[in-house]
Amino acid sequence: TSHFTFDPSFMATGSCKSRITFIDGDKGILLHRGYTIQDLAEKSTFMEVCYALLYGDLPNAKQLKEFEHNITYHTMVHEQLHFFFRGFRRDAHPMAVMCGVVGALSAFYHDSLDIHDPKQREISAHRLIAKLPTLAAMSYKYSIGQPFMYPRNDLSFAENFLYMCFAVPAEPYTVNPVLARAMDRIFTLHADHEQNASTSTVRLAGSSQANPFACIAAGIACLWGPAHGGANQAVLEMLEEIGHKDNIPEFLAKVKDKGDNTRLMGFGHRVYKNYDPRAEVLKKSCDEVLAELGINDPLLELAQELERIALSDPYFIERKLFPNVDFYSGIILKAMGFPTSMFTVLFAVARTVGWISQWKEMMEEPSLKIGRPRQLYTGPAQREYVPVDKR
Ligand code: CMC
Repeated sequence: TSHFTFDPSFMATGSCKSRITFIDGDKGILLHRGYTIQDLAEKSTFMEVCYALLYGDLPNAKQLKEFEHNITYHTMVHEQLHFFFRGFRRDAHPMAVMCGVVGALSAFYHDSLDIHDPKQREISAHRLIAKLPTLAAMSYKYSIGQPFMYPRNDLSFAENFLYMCFAVPAEPYTVNPVLARAMDRIFTLHADHEQNASTSTVRLAGSSQANPFACIAAGIACLWGPAHGGANQAVLEMLEEIGHKDNIPEFLAKVKDKGDNTRLMGFGHRVYKNYDPRAEVLKKSCDEVLAELGINDPLLELAQELERIALSDPYFIERKLFPNVDFYSGIILKAMGFPTSMFTVLFAVARTVGWISQWKEMMEEPSLKIGRPRQLYTGPAQREYVPVDKR
């Protein structure tokens, strides 16, 4: 062990230098390229944030126009991908479908696979940011048996996504601007979060010089777990299971006893030991969306009560467990009409820009070395081989 530090779960390992995202977990601060997440979520747009994450600064008007053009130019997916989808069972989880179809992109876009060419890297980045919403919407449409909707490049990124998910060819469809704004904000709030599990997965895959489509598919697989991006689905399932405010004390007692390893989903974070700044913005958005849609969701009231009780409970106070970004996102997404199985897919759509920006940053380093953690071996010492008839 003298040659390396033993750090299971990477609690104290800095794996890279990065200029993209800054988190101060004790103070609850999140900055992308120096801008606060609150400013970005409230004053900016997802496209501007994508540009900043990829290129380092917010764009000026001309740069933004050109970037938006580049992204919309790539929104369609290869027509053959429509047939690829048809190989999946209709009841497949959309994240399972996403792992497959995003991984398959490298079989369709051979002309941007040269990872040593900066221009091709940029085209791959644009393709991934542009095509993920299309693939995500297709995975939804496929699961409900509706026809795929081709992207509409006259719409904004968020509008087009809602259109591809909720429009049908037979009827005219108008995107509600309040919902489009909320969707855009959800994308912004999930865009990047430095070296979390899925981003580290993307970097590790990239360090072996795998192509960017394969790397992002690896990130999607890692995001799927309920301890990471799967938490937004798990929060809603938990709220439904609790069912009523009166059942909160019993549920929290089970969490605190660690019965069945039950956790309060949407609470706690490896880095934040304070309120997750993204959760605050989302809570406000949640109120706006429900008001706009005239929805009075008892789950929101239940969530607020759960938060209130947990935040004054010594178990959560001592362990510095606060609501994270996923605590309220599910309620908004449900109000918008998304089924719970799509929640993590939406996270993946948003996080793709973070993953690919981190990958691009890594690829721009002068010397790229493969990532290769070590281990502490705890198995048997060298022993003699015994033939099978003597064992
Ligand atoms: N409910 C109850 N207890 C918890 C929770 C929770 N949500 N989170 C942590 N704890 C307890 C844990 O049992 C442990 O207690 P003890 O000291 O008695 O053993 C202590 O707090 C420290 O927990 P940990 O598991 O060592 O902390 P971690 O940094 O490894 O885990 C986490 C971070 C996010 C995986 C965890 O807080 C969790 O499982 N939260 C619920 C799932 C969730 O909401 N995930 C979304 C994270 S934000 C979005 C994203 O990044 O994808």
